[in-house]
Amino acid sequence: MRDHLSAFLPGTGRRNPRAAFSSDAPRLDLGGPWRFRLSPTAEGEPLTADFSGWDELPVPSMWQLHRYGKPAYTNVNYPFPIEPPHVPDANPTGDYRREFDLPAGWAGRAAVLRFEGVDSCFTAWLNGVELGFSTGSRLPVEFEVAPREGRNVLAVRVHQWSPGSYLEDQDMWWLSGIFREVTLLARPVLDDFFVHAGFDPATGLGALRVECATPGAVVSVPELGLHAVPAGEERTAAVEPWSAERPRLYDATLAGGGETVRLRIGFRRVSVEGGVLMVNGRPVLLRGVNRHEFHPRTGRTLDEATMRADLELMKQHNVNAVRTSHYPPHPRFLELCDEYGMWVIDECDLETHGFAVVGWRDNPSADPRWREAYLDRMARMVERDKNRPSVIMWSLGNESGTGDNLRAMAEWARERDPSRPIHYEHDLESGYVDIYSRMYASVAEVELIGRREEAPLDDPAADARRRGLPFVLCEYAHAMGNGPGGLGEYQELFERYPRLAGGFVWEWIDHGLAHPVYGFAYGGDFGEELHDGNFVTDGLVFPDRRPSPGLVEFKKVVEPVRIEVRDGVAVISNRYDFADLSHLVFRWRVEEEGVEVASGVLDLPGVVAAGATAEVSLPDFPDISRESWVTVRAELAQDEPWAPAGHEVAWGQAQLDPGPDPAAPPGAGPREWPGGAVFEPATGRLARLGELDLDGPRLELWRAPTDNDRLSPDAWNWRAAGLDRLHERVLEQTRTDTGLTIRTRTAAAAHDRAMLAAYHWTAAEHGLHLTVEITPTGDWETFPLPRLGLRLTLPGDVSTVEWFGRGPGEAYADSCRAARVGRFRATVEELQTPYVLPQENGSRADVRWAELRTPGGTGLRVRGVDRFALTVRRWSTEALDRARHRTDLVPDDRVHVNLDLAQHGLGSASCGPGVLPRHRLSARPAVLRLLFEPLRP
Ligand code: GAL
Repeated sequence: MRDHLSAFLPGTGRRNPRAAFSSDAPRLDLGGPWRFRLSPTAEGEPLTADFSGWDELPVPSMWQLHRYGKPAYTNVNYPFPIEPPHVPDANPTGDYRREFDLPAGWAGRAAVLRFEGVDSCFTAWLNGVELGFSTGSRLPVEFEVAPREGRNVLAVRVHQWSPGSYLEDQDMWWLSGIFREVTLLARPVLDDFFVHAGFDPATGLGALRVECATPGAVVSVPELGLHAVPAGEERTAAVEPWSAERPRLYDATLAGGGETVRLRIGFRRVSVEGGVLMVNGRPVLLRGVNRHEFHPRTGRTLDEATMRADLELMKQHNVNAVRTSHYPPHPRFLELCDEYGMWVIDECDLETHGFAVVGWRDNPSADPRWREAYLDRMARMVERDKNRPSVIMWSLGNESGTGDNLRAMAEWARERDPSRPIHYEHDLESGYVDIYSRMYASVAEVELIGRREEAPLDDPAADARRRGLPFVLCEYAHAMGNGPGGLGEYQELFERYPRLAGGFVWEWIDHGLAHPVYGFAYGGDFGEELHDGNFVTDGLVFPDRRPSPGLVEFKKVVEPVRIEVRDGVAVISNRYDFADLSHLVFRWRVEEEGVEVASGVLDLPGVVAAGATAEVSLPDFPDISRESWVTVRAELAQDEPWAPAGHEVAWGQAQLDPGPDPAAPPGAGPREWPGGAVFEPATGRLARLGELDLDGPRLELWRAPTDNDRLSPDAWNWRAAGLDRLHERVLEQTRTDTGLTIRTRTAAAAHDRAMLAAYHWTAAEHGLHLTVEITPTGDWETFPLPRLGLRLTLPGDVSTVEWFGRGPGEAYADSCRAARVGRFRATVEELQTPYVLPQENGSRADVRWAELRTPGGTGLRVRGVDRFALTVRRWSTEALDRARHRTDLVPDDRVHVNLDLAQHGLGSASCGPGVLPRHRLSARPAVLRLLFEPLRP
């Protein structure tokens, strides 16, 4: 066994890889509690008959999540010295033991023992007979076995580290064990089969041929009138093709050797034509996400409910494609992709990124000694998943440099399955792939690629070939923390240039592990020697699968129906690739200052085919006197497997009438100071307004850096400039009968740049008007500002906020398309976005007015003469900045309010491009005009 741990060989004793399927042949699920013990080294303890001291561990599961050892997170680094194929002596080794009784009637039959996934390598014994050894964690392994009548003993020894670990350096937690199912399959007569189900868009005919070596095997598709067609023969029939939008599957059976397999067949054709990715003869646009398998309690062991939850959430958010980064998922997930409708890039279990750290020296991809291991992985994926219509491309792996072993994988797969294009991003010249793929390219570069005007390769022939390929952005828009910003700019390019087949946001889910103290843990929380912190929490859904604002933004940006409202008509563009709009109902609604005053349903003029646009007249709306908006929403007309009727797919909004200013500007004649406006003499800050105790406002430039700020130069510049530790000096206070002007200078210790602010307070009918003039002085050119606005605090019993502006979720300059104008209400708690690493969040944009109230109904109304952005929290910006986990955020006795003129955009600089120039916040003279009114019950 120890020899295997120092060899290049992928395995011994295994059966040839074959398709994943289930049949009516008897099977025994060996899941459940197994006996288990963990040893610190590969030597382990001897495998003796006495296992009385062993514990129990569920199979499937990952042992670090059951108190054995600890999880560890690295992105690129190997957590052991690089000396392939050797791994450390300190190699945690799990011994598993399971007894089972052979079901009656099985005796004497051949059987197959199947492991769906074991991380990272294992040897198995049945009744003391060694079956074999295998690496390849996320790939199936089968052994021929001869179980005996009655009681059988299965023993499995799993090592955390193996030569295979060099090929499995994906950016994720290092976790080990038998993490997918183990089954015993009786009498595998029908060994393997390959369903070829093509579709000819010109004729509408499907062509079905099932390859199967079992003598006498026959296929039946009753719905197509095909009965007992001999395997190997082709039949054609008029079919409805399969697509991610219309996942039409035909129930079928394959019978042979006394065994019957239930098939679900999808007819479709994937092609590259004229440098464009097509399915069924039409270009397709991938609105994709990268999906790791993750659950905060079980790691990469997922049950079917979790897989369904992922797919339903994806479909609800207009996601139509998944890249299975960076390994083949549980096979059931792909069956569900067939069913729900999802384009899939199935990626092989391969990443050697850690060799980048040593300049790719000894990279396995280019070392012939690893060739067999590479081919083994590719074959095990392709054979397992070849019958899935959802899989439209094979991906060789991720970030493994380049080399002939990758080329050999591509050549093997192309030969075995010519029906699917091959993807691999790190083939920089696209010499052995069929798709040009990149990650984190800037908007400007993607535009050049869209035009086929990208920078040329040195070799003209290679350049011409690559320039002729379709393009996917296999990773973009790094969804770490608050962000990504700038999704819309990419989507506009994807929709404009046919070469661009779309992209896959990095990534679907935050891999935060449930933790008793931290809520969700990230790298370093388990005392790892090397780790990459919270870089593992970079998903569109939080670890508990609650959608983050980034997902809501994605849903809006990629919506498959575009609705524009103008001049009394709704212009409805169908951006599906195949579907017409008959599955949607279009509802309109007029709201006057956020209150509905009229609504109805729009009649579409007949069928609006994919790619077509319809104009529909809107009815006459009622008279309105205040700011009013019409919203048109496209909703599901009927229940779908992934959402009920009424689910909103897309929307558009337009303002009907600008309406009068929500608050008349100051200077409308002198007024008395309202009773109880008290200013703090030393600071000039408002301390009381009527019954309301408040403190502020004062100038604020700081925000708790987002992950994108932290991992770009911005946050570093901000801290160096002291924006997180500003001092205010009052320059002057001037009082008149109706007004008060306070001038301040705000600056950081050790710096001479400053912001001058003039606060002009005047009396208003029910409160006070404030005009703040802000003037930067000194050198503010070298970095953007995090924010420009005011902060104040209110009593801690303020608990709810109602506002008219954009909502209901947070919005930032480059991530605001999902926020619609309306009237919203939330508790202070609901206004917080629970990023795993606390950071700036929760800002509501374009607020016209907001009311902040205690349960008793007292509080503050703020009206903007100018629109403002609003954040309300139970902790200060400084406390938010200091917090490392959600559980560090503890309410103090005040409610902290920010009223911003603007914030810097979000960008995606945690991995990729930063904030686009148009979303940058530069220091500039600015004015903010607000009206403050105390609220009474
Ligand atoms: C990519 C890589 C992903 C992930 C991402 C950053 O380079 O392919 O696996 O590490 O960067 O989160």
